[in-house]
Amino acid sequence: MKVIESVKELRAELNGKSDVGFVPTMGALHRGHKALIDRAREENRTVVLSIFVNPTQFLKGEDLSKYPRTFEADREIALRSGVDYIFFPNIDEIYGSSDEVQILAPKVGGYILEGSRRPDHFNGVLQVVLKLFNIVQPHRAYFGKKDAQQLSLIQQMVDNLFIPIDIVPIDIVRDSDGLALSSRNRYLSDSERLLAGTIPKGIEEASRLVIAGERDVKTLVRRVNEIYKDLDVEYIEIVNSKFNSISEIEIGNSILLVAVKIGTTRLIDNIWF
Ligand code: PAJ
Repeated sequence: MKVIESVKELRAELNGKSDVGFVPTMGALHRGHKALIDRAREENRTVVLSIFVNPTQFLKGEDLSKYPRTFEADREIALRSGVDYIFFPNIDEIYGSSDEVQILAPKVGGYILEGSRRPDHFNGVLQVVLKLFNIVQPHRAYFGKKDAQQLSLIQQMVDNLFIPIDIVPIDIVRDSDGLALSSRNRYLSDSERLLAGTIPKGIEEASRLVIAGERDVKTLVRRVNEIYKDLDVEYIEIVNSKFNSISEIEIGNSILLVAVKIGTTRLIDNIWF
């Protein structure tokens, strides 16, 4: 496994490789990231993992400066998972100037749910993902369903801009109490971590109700809200796969998304029905 910091060097290494799988991350790797790497390892001859804490997707006042940076541990995980190249650029390697060509998230899809709480966040995500796609030029790229709206917008970017890359979605990996793994879980104190276990409880209850035949979106959202009574809820919403609001669950085409704050930590989760 090689660790590469420069675009030029990575390009030279990958030149002529016909079967490249790519896993973009911001590091602080956990089993969720590992699931993406494992799948990439199964499906590609060459696997590239990027670790880059992308400043343009953090809003002012967000956790950019305290975002966990754990390169040595990440390198170990990557090595054990059979990654061929870690692309680990510094900021200047990725952003040449402060006045760059912009990538804009769709005006509606980029500004609902996460985008309403974090305006312009998805501009930064799409900007860096497009840069990384152009640097690595992979055949397949792997993204977690944990960030459902991000996954949907990246798929849309690939479709809208005719980017010849297959986007492979990977199921959410959870802890033993059901909490979706996240690099940000490290911010939680013991008591906050315990409370965070309520997040999957709400989602599981909604799932049980849907299995039992409940289809009314308002009823489902109300029930999750009750379970989240001790949490600081940002949103609980159910949309269809195009992220349009719905009033009735359409089985196979509906997704419940939640965002809550536990202390100062913002956590998101979702489930498909
Ligand atoms: P990061 O939060 O590091 O996540 C990298 C990838 O891992 C994303 O595709 C995310 O959805 C996936 N992931 C995180 N937790 C997961 C879990 N518990 N189960 C399954 N997959 C999980 O998402 C980003 O970085 C950035 O926005 C990035 C796309 C790298 C652009 O900067």
